[in-house]
Amino acid sequence: MMHRNPSRTLVLGVTAALALTTGGAAVAADRPVRDRVDRLLARMTLDEKLGQMTQAERQAVTADDITRYRLGSLLSGGGSAPSPNTPESWADMTDGFQRAALATPNKIPLIYGVDAVHGHNNVVNATIFPHNIGLGATRDPGLVRGIGRATAEEVTGTGPDWTFAPCLCVARNDRWGRTYESFGEVPELASAMASIVTGFQGERLNGRASILATAKHYVGDGGTTGGDDQGDVDLSEAELRKIHLPPFRAAVRRGVGSVMISYSSWKGVKAHGHKYLITDILKKELRFSGLVVSDWNGIDQIDGKPGFTAEEVRTSINAGIDMVMVPHEWKRFIDTLRAEVQAGRVPMKRIDDANRRILTKKIELGLFERPFADRSYLKTVGSAEHRALARRAVARSQVLLKNDRDVLPLARDGKLFVAGKNADDIGNQSGGWTITWQGASGATTRGTTILDGIRQTAAPGSTVTYSKDGTGIDSSYKAAVAVVGEKPYAEFEGDRPGAMGLDADDLGTIERLRASGVPVVVVLVSGRPLDIAAELPKWNGLVASWLPGTEGRGVADVLFGVSRPTGKLPVTWMRSAEQQPINRGDGQTPLFPYGYGLTYRR
Ligand code: BGC
Ligand code: BGC
Repeated sequence: MMHRNPSRTLVLGVTAALALTTGGAAVAADRPVRDRVDRLLARMTLDEKLGQMTQAERQAVTADDITRYRLGSLLSGGGSAPSPNTPESWADMTDGFQRAALATPNKIPLIYGVDAVHGHNNVVNATIFPHNIGLGATRDPGLVRGIGRATAEEVTGTGPDWTFAPCLCVARNDRWGRTYESFGEVPELASAMASIVTGFQGERLNGRASILATAKHYVGDGGTTGGDDQGDVDLSEAELRKIHLPPFRAAVRRGVGSVMISYSSWKGVKAHGHKYLITDILKKELRFSGLVVSDWNGIDQIDGKPGFTAEEVRTSINAGIDMVMVPHEWKRFIDTLRAEVQAGRVPMKRIDDANRRILTKKIELGLFERPFADRSYLKTVGSAEHRALARRAVARSQVLLKNDRDVLPLARDGKLFVAGKNADDIGNQSGGWTITWQGASGATTRGTTILDGIRQTAAPGSTVTYSKDGTGIDSSYKAAVAVVGEKPYAEFEGDRPGAMGLDADDLGTIERLRASGVPVVVVLVSGRPLDIAAELPKWNGLVASWLPGTEGRGVADVLFGVSRPTGKLPVTWMRSAEQQPINRGDGQTPLFPYGYGLTYRR
């Protein structure tokens, strides 16, 4: 221990003495956070400060790099998991990285970030909760806060300290591939659901199983022209403030620890280089005191050309970004920023402010005292309790849109036929950001498919027949359930500039069911409203399931009336794709308005 000061050790309390044995050797835990930050800063070299501002991808570093370059943070990109992908190996991995960080003179712990955006979704067998659009349909901020808490516990057991969630985007155009990451199309909804920040962070950041939350993507990500991911937001300042800023204000009020900048631009200027948005509005006006992190290679886009230049590094840091997510080119980033500082183009004051913000959050999180994974939480990963919470959230998120002649709820003892590509597919019902970045079809993780849920809920001895494409149905069935919709996607890969209807497979499946004369209920598993108006008259019932995650039994709960449907549309449902963008109060006539949602009569 290089900086231990014996005379001070004498007056330390027990907790502080413990701190000496782990991180923060020289910075007593019983001092005010400000003091501890000042003391640390006073003894850090420029290179140590640059390291703190750097976030690299875990696959792009060795333990030795972490120690040598004094890296401040690592992340797992979407799907970037240790092998085998088990909770224990996550904990081993993050602890290994942490030991490397603690082997530096100032023993500043790393902060490790993951996209735990609907549960701890990179981890096989973790609980996968509904994506935000479904949570928006619940209209239940308390439930959503509970999901934040459960997710934080699962994350804590496996070692990361930071989630890049919640996405507080207000999705204004359903063509956008990230619509499902949005709680809904109006600012009030996303603002109310900022409650999840309190779930992630707990009442106090240094509480047990508290992780740092990230309000993202600041600002206007859901407001791009054409719903183009990472595109341009062509709104007046008044509109930007009215529609896209409020959820960030709500998150700041809740003490959110970090804010991630959006890839998008505002009137042609990339947010990553936007000093007015980052420093003037977010930091000064909203008084955000946490750390601003860039998006993945986000600074590369400032000049519209691939890769980052010295000018982009300077512009982004001077605009107010405190930590830069430079997954692979972190060495060049450090060298470039050092040169900019030495040339006086990035003021030392800015570097110190960034470090102050980063170190403050690390201290508040208790990382200096408890730098390692708290393995007592390992057992919460995919636990029965968390899965029960997810099932409840799924049931609450279902939106009943059509129910002709009370075709729903289904009789538990009726003869049922189930079909559709999303009926028996954990991957499809979980969507993007599940085990991998884009998500994938198939049995990618453990869970209950919607078909499993239907089977478990139907009365013992009753008949539930399944065929994926609907072949084999005959008129002897009481009802047919077609579970159709979208397959997984994430970010720009989900942009839909053209048609937004069901694919030919789904239409064929439904047609086969209909031909039998049996009443057909469509369960739509999708990240957004689809263009279904022309088909709807042929269906007897319609439920919007969104992307429910691993607990498909929650869907069955609603189909059978174990739970009454209470979900309300978090977005306006288009009458045709040409209506996009379509939003509450814009004068267009939708198929179903924002807030629509039926329930059962009894
Ligand atoms: C996404 C962010 C995410 C980051 C790290 C980016 O591509 O836009 O939402 O947090 O990657 O995975
Ligand atoms: C990563 C994601 C990231 C994306 C950005 C992917 O390779 O896994 O985390 O968001 O790249 O384009």
